[in-house]
Amino acid sequence: MKRLVAATLVLVATCAAAQDYPAKPINIIVPAAAGGPTDTLTRVLAAAMSDALKQQMIVENVGGAGGTIGINRAAKARADGYTLLLYHIGMATSPALYRKLQYDTLNDFDYIGQVADVPMMMIAKSTIPANSFAEFLSYAKANKDKLTYANAGLGSASYLCGILFMSAVEANFTMVPYKGTGPAMNDLVGGQVDFMCDQTTNTVPQIKAGKVKAYGVTTASRLASMPDLPTLAEQGLKGFDLVVWNGVFAPKGTPKPALDKLVAALQTAVQSPAFRSRLAELGAEPVPLSKANPGSLGALLKAEVEKWGPIIRKTGVFAD
Ligand code: MLT
Repeated sequence: MKRLVAATLVLVATCAAAQDYPAKPINIIVPAAAGGPTDTLTRVLAAAMSDALKQQMIVENVGGAGGTIGINRAAKARADGYTLLLYHIGMATSPALYRKLQYDTLNDFDYIGQVADVPMMMIAKSTIPANSFAEFLSYAKANKDKLTYANAGLGSASYLCGILFMSAVEANFTMVPYKGTGPAMNDLVGGQVDFMCDQTTNTVPQIKAGKVKAYGVTTASRLASMPDLPTLAEQGLKGFDLVVWNGVFAPKGTPKPALDKLVAALQTAVQSPAFRSRLAELGAEPVPLSKANPGSLGALLKAEVEKWGPIIRKTGVFAD
């Protein structure tokens, strides 16, 4: 009898908690430094999702090791619906780069959905003596022992773009890792490092302010927001096509009622005019509704882990 009462009480409490969710602010981990592209995207999304959830969403930046420190923090967090993770293509590259990851990328997370696709751009400090990609390429090859390439560490999108670029132009440059491309951009604008490939959510404002030079877009087609900037592919890097997908994840075992409310809030957010227009300003593409769901994110992550694994292993570069 006592057991039945106890079980009933637990059931009632669980149902009450499910109904009240979210009863307190939700923490969303960004595995990169503040001020960078993933931080920018997360803050725009958090504003839209907290409107839908009628609850605050707090961004927590946990940068370093290409995002794997923050991802691990999220994987180990309490699965109660109050800790989420927003990250990107780096989720799919780190399993190949880190042979001793402390989490299981494909099994330690529940999925909420995709958020946005963000193109990248090849940019350089404003004092680089090159005003076109062709000029930059010949300058870079002539100075490859001196030039430094800023990035957010092994497992980051800027690192991935860097190794793809270096193999495409058959030249290696000195990699300078940061906890995110937010601080890397500060040093690029300051002239401490020479060039970087970074997401439009971080590059567009600096290009518009004339603080960095832009040489090309990493996607197969030009951006509507910057039609005069050619793609790397049309400037000789045949087939170069890289876009940074982004998704929201939760620790495995997060209660279904909470997941359902989070998916609904994400779907409201990606359709909201404020969210869409802010991303358009930053050259990013919100996903269609058909991608803002758990199934779509889960399938994408699995396919991307399979795609990038062999490419990365071929470089022979590992973090550990
Ligand atoms: C960031 O927000 O710093 C980026 O996502 C870093 C990267 O992956 O290049």
